[in-house]
Amino acid sequence: MADEKRGGVRRLKPGDSTELPSPSLNGETTRFIRAQDFHSRYSRLITWELEDEMEQVEERLRHWSKQKLVEHGYTLIGVIARNSGWLFGDRVVKFSAQKGENLGNHRFSQGDIVTICRNNPLKEITVEGIVLTRKRNSLSVVVSENLDKVRTGTWRIDRGANRVAHDRMQDALREILRDEPPTTLSDLLLGRPRDINDSAKMRPEFRGVKWRDVFTPSELNESQEEAFKRAMTSRFSLIQGPPGTGKTHTAVRILQGWAKQGTGPILATADSNVAVDNLLEGLLDLGVKAVRIGQPVKVRAHLRSATVRARVEEHPLQEEVRELLGLQESLQRRLSTFKGKEKGLAHRDLKMGWKAIRALETSMSDDVLDGAEVICSTCIGVGHQILGQRKFSNILIDEATQAIEPATWVPIMRSCRRLVLVGDHRQLPPTVISRRAEQDGLRRSLFERMIDAGMTPTMLKTQYRMHPVIAEYSSSRYYDNQLENGVSADDRIAPAGFLWPDWDAPVAFVPIDGAEELAVDGKSRVNRDEAGWVVKIVEQLLSAGDLQPSDIGIVSPYNGQVQLLTDLFDGKGILAGEGDEEAGGLEIRSIDGYQGREKEVIVLSTVRANHDGEVGFLSDHRRLNVAITRPRRGLIVVGCADTLRHDGDWEGWLEWVRDRKLEAWHVLQSY
Ligand SMILES: Nc1ncnc2c1ncn2[C@@H]1O[C@H](COP(=O)(O)OP(=O)(O)OP(=O)(O)O)[C@@H](O)[C@H]1O
Ligand SMILES: [Mg+2]
Repeated sequence: MADEKRGGVRRLKPGDSTELPSPSLNGETTRFIRAQDFHSRYSRLITWELEDEMEQVEERLRHWSKQKLVEHGYTLIGVIARNSGWLFGDRVVKFSAQKGENLGNHRFSQGDIVTICRNNPLKEITVEGIVLTRKRNSLSVVVSENLDKVRTGTWRIDRGANRVAHDRMQDALREILRDEPPTTLSDLLLGRPRDINDSAKMRPEFRGVKWRDVFTPSELNESQEEAFKRAMTSRFSLIQGPPGTGKTHTAVRILQGWAKQGTGPILATADSNVAVDNLLEGLLDLGVKAVRIGQPVKVRAHLRSATVRARVEEHPLQEEVRELLGLQESLQRRLSTFKGKEKGLAHRDLKMGWKAIRALETSMSDDVLDGAEVICSTCIGVGHQILGQRKFSNILIDEATQAIEPATWVPIMRSCRRLVLVGDHRQLPPTVISRRAEQDGLRRSLFERMIDAGMTPTMLKTQYRMHPVIAEYSSSRYYDNQLENGVSADDRIAPAGFLWPDWDAPVAFVPIDGAEELAVDGKSRVNRDEAGWVVKIVEQLLSAGDLQPSDIGIVSPYNGQVQLLTDLFDGKGILAGEGDEEAGGLEIRSIDGYQGREKEVIVLSTVRANHDGEVGFLSDHRRLNVAITRPRRGLIVVGCADTLRHDGDWEGWLEWVRDRKLEAWHVLQSY
């Protein structure tokens, strides 16, 4: 058999992993004749999602002792607060421990939703906030309303549910009820036209705009070219394809093409920050003027200079802001020395000062946004007030199969006239907390609903990322053996520094008989034995000199393990630190943190090792698919075969590994 040749690729029998649609997904929930039906369905689903998320938070508050909540980092108690400026019109409050102590171990990080109260969030009226910055000694929070007597007494902070996302989705959904919803695509996206494909192929309506012709970029293959052309001429198109087939590669060229066409403002979005960063990176590489909205801390370090926040820092008006801030501070300091009317006037001046600063900040960010060809943001981020009333006629959503449908409507309701959705329903699905919302279909993305409504996507089938053998299992199990290879084994030589069981097939399973433990937070998991082996393996890979730390990605489905590995590698000086602008180091992340990305080598620590065959998180085959399709030249999986085997997809993978003789027992003896 030709495929038995070393390094050759086999065609396996496809796995039986087709999913059954949930019973609630029928014609009525796919095509909507009445906008009201659409609205009430999705409004209900996200209300359930919020209610159930809040319920989860409340459950914890009700059943855990205060001490346990603090120990596990869900709650901060006895912190003092003071007002600390503004963020685009919202009050910022800075919390710190008393007497300059540090805040201890807690789980609050930037972007988290918190509730603030004095003592007991279940018994008091709470104020909501979003964490703006986390420092060792303090936590700055943007609050929804002023805290009464902020400097008096102490405060308590708890984790809250994501109401902001919910509110933005509700706002977007409500727009569909208007006589003329703010997108020319509403009929089509509700599934009303008899022939969806014909309707989608119509030219987008850009009234009064003269289109410029654009050439198709040369670095696209035939099907990518087809996707590009469709996106240039049709008002709605879908691009679908397995990992590494150049979906994002094509997406950034489409965005570039739109910029050249000159058909109005362009929005590049995705559900997760990781996926938005991928688009931003690709755009900047092509020299497209792109800016990123969103919290810089959530943006990959070397891309932070492209955030609006960073660009605003360099704005010429910044000097004026700094001057004003200086004046404000000195006035604030002298405030206690004023009496009577004088004090009243000082307060008025302070208020006016903040107003002037806010006006300058808005004008600077407007300048930055106006100067960009493409604005990049997460779907929910598009609801941020920094974008004001801005409209975007051209919208692309990458990883669209990872977003719940209402989230995708947040950008679409910004006056979308042309839309491209890019996705792969075999990679990470949307996260849905509520059981009832999940069962009623909230996990089906807009992308999938449009496919169900009859839309034909442009399929990309040739992958350019992985050594053909690395792509083999994913192709057979999840893509009907349809995945073709645009790179050969010779283009992806197995890296030195690891004893590959087969140097022509750079995949290895290192069987570790370790033990899993519950992580400190009481929820996530860690596996110290695996972590130890990962460190040894990575050190060997690096010492061979073939790879730089930034070529290696360490992945685990469990945040607890990610944290443990980070601690172990910390101090070895090869980590990509948070604030490190060069970010040239090793990256250790969850699988979700690697969505859409690639590395020369991936070392995957699966963590689960128990007698009950509990695989938890790992059982989502889409997560497995994402994890094993990130590497270009080598994949090393460290795990407990007996536990993994309890899951059908992992069992299939282990069998494939055994067939191909890729078990690396010898590695255990060689260190
Ligand atoms: N036509 C092409 N010729 C050469 N290289 C290509 C081509 N298309 C894509 N690539 C390369 O293949 C790799 C994978 O591309 P890309 O990340 O766009 O895939 P993807 O489909 O978005 O993957 P994922 O599903 O993981 O998000 C990238 O390194 C990209 O530069
Ligand atoms: Mg991609």
